[in-house]
Amino acid sequence: MTAEPNIPVHVAVIMDGNGRWARKRAMPRHLGHRSGVGAVRKIVETSAKKGVKYLTLFAFSSENWNRPREEVSKLMGLFVEALQREVDDLHRNEVCLRFIGAREMLQPKLLKMIAAAEAQTAANTGLQLQVAVAYGGRWDIGCAVRRLAARAAQGEIRTDEINDDAIAAELALSGMPDPDLLIRTGGEQRISNFLLWNLAYAELWFCDTLWPDFDEQDFERALNFYAERERRYGHTGDQVEAAS
Ligand code: IPE
Ligand code: IPE
Ligand code: MG
Repeated sequence: MTAEPNIPVHVAVIMDGNGRWARKRAMPRHLGHRSGVGAVRKIVETSAKKGVKYLTLFAFSSENWNRPREEVSKLMGLFVEALQREVDDLHRNEVCLRFIGAREMLQPKLLKMIAAAEAQTAANTGLQLQVAVAYGGRWDIGCAVRRLAARAAQGEIRTDEINDDAIAAELALSGMPDPDLLIRTGGEQRISNFLLWNLAYAELWFCDTLWPDFDEQDFERALNFYAERERRYGHTGDQVEAAS
């Protein structure tokens, strides 16, 4: 589907508020996470429909390993279940699915399913969907720096070749455009160690809706907010107008 004008090419989402959604209903937190899967399905469908090309979802952060063991284990189980249930449908809809994060931290069963899902959908040219699991922006930049340092030590690159492009090429979202729009649900207005490098020029949109309740209307609001922004990248407004 071709995008309408002013539709962001890349949308990143911090899906927050599952625990509070459950607490409001006197349910255990993991049922909030379970309910959040439905909202993921919705935003994937709506993104494809609207012509968004890249969607990157924050599902589990480096810091989330510090949660109670029971919650972490329920979340990992939920990822396995969601993959089992959703991948064929995603594939039918031409979605290309990738995972970003420290995958060596994940249990073998989940790792195998991730690899299978990535292989199955690799050639799909529809929505490019990245799910960040065991991901942290500092982890990502740290990995990139280590790889570049190793190549410099081997004499493969000179240190003066380590510029913005060289760093970006080593990050988890290598080859993809930076997110244009960051959405965070759940009322907090912070980045929580998400895509620290790639969000440099993203428009930021926050809402109080708890993630399981996030629907097409909320997404429309975020897209409308984005459509009204003037993206100046350091230029003046007059310069931007003159160039358009
Ligand atoms: C986001 O919801 C999901 C993950 C971080 C895994 P939370 O679990 O953080 O929900 P709240 O913020 O406690 O409501
Ligand atoms: C951020 O949410 C991570 C994800 C949505 C996966 P958190 O709920 O973990 O963020 P903080 O710790 O409140 O900043
Ligand atoms: Mg939270």
